[in-house]
Amino acid sequence: MSDKLPTTIVIFGATGDLTQRKLVPALYTLWQKERLPQAFQIVGFSRSEWDSAEFRKKMKKGLDEHSRTELTKEDWKEFSERLHYISGSTTEPDGYKKLNDMLTELEGEQPANRMYYLSVPPKIFPPIVHNLYDQGMTKEEGDVWRRVIVEKPFGFDLESATSLNDSLHEVLDEDQIYRIDHYLAKETVQNILVFRFGNTIFEPIWNRNYIESVQITAAESVEVGSRAGYYDSSGVLRDMFQNHLLQLLTIVAMEPPASFAANAIRNEKSKVLESIRPMHAATETVRGQYVGYRQAEGVADRSQTATYAAMRLFIDNWRWKDVPFYLRSGKALKEKKTEITINFKSPPHMMFPLPAEYHINSNMLSICIQPDEGIHLSVEAKVPDTSAEMRSVDMEFHYKDSFGAGAIPEAYERLLFEALNGDASLFTRGDNIELAWSLIDPILKSWDESVPPLMFYEQGSWGPTESHKFIAQTQDIWRMGCGGH
Ligand code: BG6
Repeated sequence: MSDKLPTTIVIFGATGDLTQRKLVPALYTLWQKERLPQAFQIVGFSRSEWDSAEFRKKMKKGLDEHSRTELTKEDWKEFSERLHYISGSTTEPDGYKKLNDMLTELEGEQPANRMYYLSVPPKIFPPIVHNLYDQGMTKEEGDVWRRVIVEKPFGFDLESATSLNDSLHEVLDEDQIYRIDHYLAKETVQNILVFRFGNTIFEPIWNRNYIESVQITAAESVEVGSRAGYYDSSGVLRDMFQNHLLQLLTIVAMEPPASFAANAIRNEKSKVLESIRPMHAATETVRGQYVGYRQAEGVADRSQTATYAAMRLFIDNWRWKDVPFYLRSGKALKEKKTEITINFKSPPHMMFPLPAEYHINSNMLSICIQPDEGIHLSVEAKVPDTSAEMRSVDMEFHYKDSFGAGAIPEAYERLLFEALNGDASLFTRGDNIELAWSLIDPILKSWDESVPPLMFYEQGSWGPTESHKFIAQTQDIWRMGCGGH
């Protein structure tokens, strides 16, 4: 990487699972790929009374279990010398003084860049950044930067997200803040922009004249498991829709940005979110809960929390007017699969002498986000040795065939790399987040009043039967073209 200045990465909440499972393995891989600055240090900060030796031991365990690249004895020795730990309270100014002293000592005389990674619950973001500010630890001078990465969830509703943004903005400029949405770092999600705007043939038909509907599915087969306590106060709308699904929607629906710069992209995303017609929860959403959810430890006996949701929305602009966008996501479903399908209109006139009962399949483009990353395009083909019989066939692209198995990096690797490089395109801007909350908030309120009613579904199914009736209202079905279902 080009940055010549030493860089220190400080992880708040360093004793948490994320540091061991994702952050340090991602930093290790970046270091192996020579994508970190020559001089870098990683400092863990948390309440637990660990020391650097303990921190290194725990991180070694994480690397043994989660690293995607080989960990040799020599590499570990060299890498581990850059790992440090200091214990302290995130709310007490004293801890920050100690931290600053340690950083200054590690960095030596020369100025160093600093990236503060907040892997802590959102209510602790404000005390951390305010304390950093009070100690002069967020001040940028000359080429020296100070950046803050914040984990999700960003707020609980519009009000809390706005007040969180306000609090961060009191001490940081927007371009110092990197809000994580790990879906943006998925290669298949980044590829949507390349697919749409790096090719000539799709953009002319990417509109209401040719597209009948768009569906976005993020299905998970896992139950809520050990996160039940958090999940029960959150639910699927906050956990998956406000962030990941709406971000996917903006990338599919946005206008071509003038450049690949972070703010050019994020401006277009905001315009999409601003154009979404307010939804009627009663008629445009389905909410479900899997059978057995209430028995999970940490879940209230009569919990009304939704573990499944489906919604229909419209984007009121020239490109998308009256094209339904269907979004669905849930836990304990049949398969783990994230997919976007673009369903094209049928040909205007059918010249082939087909039997009356024959139903022509219109073209469908499936963007396979995960697990079998790729793109499928279904087209109609003539069945050989018939006069005009047709069948849908697939044109397919799979990452593993074109780029080799293992070509796709771990999302956190990409995110950390981009943040270190100062590219915020894969992070969510404050106004994007607030716009997304303003769409989700009214639905949450309606759901709190039991509108629409909570529907139950069996584990291993595709959600409540109402979700199928719901989509059938527009004579559609849930479509998946990446295999399965
Ligand atoms: C997280 C949610 O943001 O995304 C989890 O909190 C969910 O509940 C996860 O399981 C899904 O991410 P992925 O990358 O596995 O689709």
